[in-house]
Amino acid sequence: MQYPGHLSSKLPRVGTTIFTEMSALAQQHNAVNLSQGFPDFDPHPKLIEAVSNAMKSGHNQYAPMGGWLPLRERIAEQIEQRYGTAFNPEDEITITAGATQALCTAMAATITEGDEVILFTPAYDAYAPLVELFGGTPVYVKLQFPDYHIDWDQLQHMISHKTKMIVINNPHNPTGAVLKEEDLDRLERIVKNSNILLLADEVYEHIIFDGLKHQSLLSRSALAERTIAVYSFGKTFHMTGWKLGYAVAPQNLMKEFRKVHQFNVFSVNRPAQVGLAEFLTDGSQWEVGQMYAQKRDEFLKLVSSSRFKALASHGSYFVLMDYSAVTDEPDMEYAKRLTIEKGLASIPVSVFYNVPTDHKVLRFCFAKNSETLERGAEILNTL
Ligand SMILES: Cc1ncc(COP(=O)(O)O)c(C=O)c1O
Repeated sequence: MQYPGHLSSKLPRVGTTIFTEMSALAQQHNAVNLSQGFPDFDPHPKLIEAVSNAMKSGHNQYAPMGGWLPLRERIAEQIEQRYGTAFNPEDEITITAGATQALCTAMAATITEGDEVILFTPAYDAYAPLVELFGGTPVYVKLQFPDYHIDWDQLQHMISHKTKMIVINNPHNPTGAVLKEEDLDRLERIVKNSNILLLADEVYEHIIFDGLKHQSLLSRSALAERTIAVYSFGKTFHMTGWKLGYAVAPQNLMKEFRKVHQFNVFSVNRPAQVGLAEFLTDGSQWEVGQMYAQKRDEFLKLVSSSRFKALASHGSYFVLMDYSAVTDEPDMEYAKRLTIEKGLASIPVSVFYNVPTDHKVLRFCFAKNSETLERGAEILNTL
């Protein structure tokens, strides 16, 4: 069926995301799927049991608008313990339908016509369309290849009187780069005495390796006071399909966030929230970094003799691999050919840029069980 009238698209340049495209291609060609960022193993059995108990004991109607309070309390305890900053679970934390809804709601509540929002490329694909949807203009700053660090002088240069927000994704998807303490020092100096808001996408906060400490924007009051931070239970507890996350912000920012939240979703899945709150009475459940570090190391060992060269991944569940020793094809073409002809799906990194940028690197997700990683590595080793 076709709508007979004319609808001018609010997002004319947006099509299907590369993740959907590559996963569909992987399925069509029965390929090992190391493209989309989701684990192929189940959440903790205790978590599944706690959620099913919540359903059986009558937690089947709307949750409170801000989220199930005991869950917000567990989150506040965790933030205070890890980052040393106190947030009030009553009015500074909101449970969302994944980090995606939190990002969308944060932008809807703050971005208005004419605002500029600084994004670092390669950038997670949701940011720019959301900025544009609410009338803003993305302003792009490239991370410095090959370790993808931020050139703070360049950022300083791009700030104008229209800059409303800077989006900071740390640990970083797709590169696995993480911020250092000095980075937060620079950021603090740049935003001091301005009205610039920070949107911290820290969905991989617990997935950080090599003894590094996650430099959360919530760990410094000078940054936390102007930050909306978003998180994903799906990423931390391997249940991306449940679509559950949360946002944290100072009270006056959270008040505006909730004005939008109450009308775009009102509240999110109650049994999952009740089950998570129960599961997280054991605070050690947040510690998943070691398990993912083992997966990264396992994958890197398996591919160590291949002609693909791994770039450093200090966090997230992705590693970039330089394939320039194998072919000089553009990354998009090569990623598709690798899926169709060799049966291995990855994500070409050029899709995360606003302007053509091809460093001949592909992104591989190692949040997979050993058998999947072995099958993927076997293919890489033959190339
Ligand atoms: C950087 C980043 N932010 C946000 C999200 C979305 O998280 P959720 O699945 O909780 O909506 C993802 C998922 O891939 C991500 O990688």
